[in-house]
Amino acid sequence: MSELRPETRAVHLPQPVMEGSRPITVPIYQTSGFVFDDPAVFADGMGRPDGAYVYGRLSNPTVRSLEEAVAGLEGGVGAVAAGSGMGAINSVLFALLKPGDHVIAQRAVYGGTSTTLTDLVRRFGVSVTYVPEDDPEAVRAAVTPQTRVLYLETIANPVTQVADLPAMCAAAKEAGLVSVVDNTFASPVLCRPIEHGADIVVHSTTKYLSGHTDVLGGIAVFASDELYRRVWSFSVELGATPDPFAAWLTLRGMQTLSLRMERHCHNTRVLATRLAEHPAVTAVHWPGLPSHPSHQVATRLLPDFGGVFSFDLAGGRPAGEKFMSAVRLALLAPSLGGVETLILHPATTSHRALTAEELLRSGIGEGTVRVAVGIEHVEDLWADFEQALAQSS
Ligand SMILES: Cc1ncc(COP(=O)(O)O)c(C=O)c1O
Repeated sequence: MSELRPETRAVHLPQPVMEGSRPITVPIYQTSGFVFDDPAVFADGMGRPDGAYVYGRLSNPTVRSLEEAVAGLEGGVGAVAAGSGMGAINSVLFALLKPGDHVIAQRAVYGGTSTTLTDLVRRFGVSVTYVPEDDPEAVRAAVTPQTRVLYLETIANPVTQVADLPAMCAAAKEAGLVSVVDNTFASPVLCRPIEHGADIVVHSTTKYLSGHTDVLGGIAVFASDELYRRVWSFSVELGATPDPFAAWLTLRGMQTLSLRMERHCHNTRVLATRLAEHPAVTAVHWPGLPSHPSHQVATRLLPDFGGVFSFDLAGGRPAGEKFMSAVRLALLAPSLGGVETLILHPATTSHRALTAEELLRSGIGEGTVRVAVGIEHVEDLWADFEQALAQSS
């Protein structure tokens, strides 16, 4: 093609050819589409999640690498990544539900999920019954011929109730429901819900899986091929797909997931135990503490208890507000699962859309402070908490 003019040469760039070596890391395939030699392969790739790459909204090699990695960690047959956790959750719920259907959900779910469920009721005529996270009898009692989905969270936000996954998923299976478990707080290092009977696992990969507070993402992992293909088709329609750079950042962060989880859990154990003994604190909510209502279920299901906890200050809301202004190392910020320690006041931030009754249902008090513990040295964190407690009590 030496006769090509410079304008054309500049457009048609040479592709790298790998002979005898390959990259150590997964490359970022920053392309919106793919080129075919064979029209039949092109046509075949359009209709399935695991065919040839066709177009970025359907699939992309960097994104598929992330999907295969998380499916492997969770023990699923396949996964569908999304641009955020809510993208993954909405892809799943909208793929599974139609007007008139009924959902059973555990009473404390992430604020965004709670808003989605409320919207499904208000705009799409879906009904929702809330049940305790550890009560399979309540699931059996709530089932109607219209029930399609049981929605759970392994560890709930912010008072960290742990769902009794084996018992709850078994009750769902008996009734022919699809059980969906948000495993964001546990990560696959602490829990793999498919091993306990879940049909679909969802994550906000924004949190522990990516781990560095620099990317948004979500993913749904499937126990069955049928559910995988059904949700993939809907997510392609919805356009919830992540971009390859976001998928790459998530993959890079995931390589240190188990090391980070070890430190998150260790630091949390130290802080939660010391706070539970502090005179300015009335309650600490962390399933690793024997006083937590989920301690027994958590001990049965989890090798450790996660990096998020919350606590209530004796001085109520004013003390909570003072504490949040007084910390110096911990950052007053949303989200969790990153390397730095973040704190927030759920009643006025993450859960502000909830009514007083819904707050109560989620176990959130006016003075509850949530801590997403990072991987700093725990004594530096404790020194920060001690000085902030001294200023706020
Ligand atoms: C448990 C849980 N699920 C889902 C989400 C939503 O994820 P994203 O913010 O990535 O959409 C969050 C976000 O905080 C969460 O904490």
